[in-house]
Amino acid sequence: MASSISSLLVAVLSVLVLAGTARGHPWGGGGFPLIPQFYDHSCPHAKDIVRSIVATAVAREARMAASLLRLHFHDCFVQGCDGSLLLDNSTSILSEKGSNPNNNSIRGLELIDEIKVALEHACPGTVSCADILALAARDSVTLVGGPYWAVPLGRRDSLTANLQASNNDIPAPNNTLPTIIAKFRNQGLDLVDVVALSGAHTIGLSRCTSFRQRLYNQSGNAAPDFTLDAAYAGYLRHDCPRSGGDNNLFPLDLATPTKFDNLYFKNILVGKGLLNSDQVLLTQSGETAALVKAYAADVDLFFKHFAESMVKMGNIKPLTGGQGEVRNNCRRINNHY
Ligand code: HEM
Repeated sequence: MASSISSLLVAVLSVLVLAGTARGHPWGGGGFPLIPQFYDHSCPHAKDIVRSIVATAVAREARMAASLLRLHFHDCFVQGCDGSLLLDNSTSILSEKGSNPNNNSIRGLELIDEIKVALEHACPGTVSCADILALAARDSVTLVGGPYWAVPLGRRDSLTANLQASNNDIPAPNNTLPTIIAKFRNQGLDLVDVVALSGAHTIGLSRCTSFRQRLYNQSGNAAPDFTLDAAYAGYLRHDCPRSGGDNNLFPLDLATPTKFDNLYFKNILVGKGLLNSDQVLLTQSGETAALVKAYAADVDLFFKHFAESMVKMGNIKPLTGGQGEVRNNCRRINNHY
């Protein structure tokens, strides 16, 4: 009797674990659920170590919060949240750092190295690079005024990177809204996730090259994007000329670029979303427009949805259990030749 009950339990658990292989499901690809307490015994100070290094860096330069948040996004959208983004070029690795969305754009990699060194000192071989990215993203958001959430942990690091997926799977600023939605759906994320997570653009900066098309030649007819406020467009043209100035920087949220709040959504309502992908949330779909309006009207709702969507994004196909490894150095797989 006892043994038939235990076989039944094993069968039920196996079904649950198999079901957990679905994209974005809290039970990741390795079958083990991520849990916030993962390092409570193996590295009790892990979270404090990450937080204190991130806090020092953000106090030094507020933009670092934005740069760290974006790293977690660019990691998770490419073969899951597995630290693949952090691998440098080597004989076996074609680094994702060279992809269109990342090249000359992602920042904060040295800070991740600094956190890794501190964690290796405290608890060697224990805390994965993928988990460092997830914790640093949460701490960044909280430090600049955004919501707090408990970060599920236990991700392991990949042995591979995928440059092609980095080029294809991370949404581009000139993608149409249906394409952006499709890229989120491929990761198991829905419309609410698209709009709530786009709210990350309440902090940080964009290069001129990421939105120039809107100022001069939106649809190939030498006309600007008329959904962009005319006065704001004029101001942007000043430092984002037709040619040159590609790397000139502009706040994604012109109102409060270093504060995590809901002004990003209020800007969109008045035609002052910087990226095409920001503004189309209002102009190309009634459903996403309703969410933009709801978040502009209710910062608590935005914070709640943002935190929930970050947990969902952080659960995209993690490696767990015996999969992958815990890298000693986030830039290299262990025992590389
Ligand atoms: C919806 C699709 C998205 C598109 C098309 C997009 C595109 C972009 C682009 C083009 C930039 C400026 C890059 C540059 O010019 O160097 C940027 C910056 C940024 N993105 Fe997104 N993004 C999207 C979603 C997200 C999500 C989901 C997050 C995080 C949850 C995020 C966080 C950020 C942050 C914080 C920055 C500023 C980074 C910094 O200042 O270093 N983005 N994004």
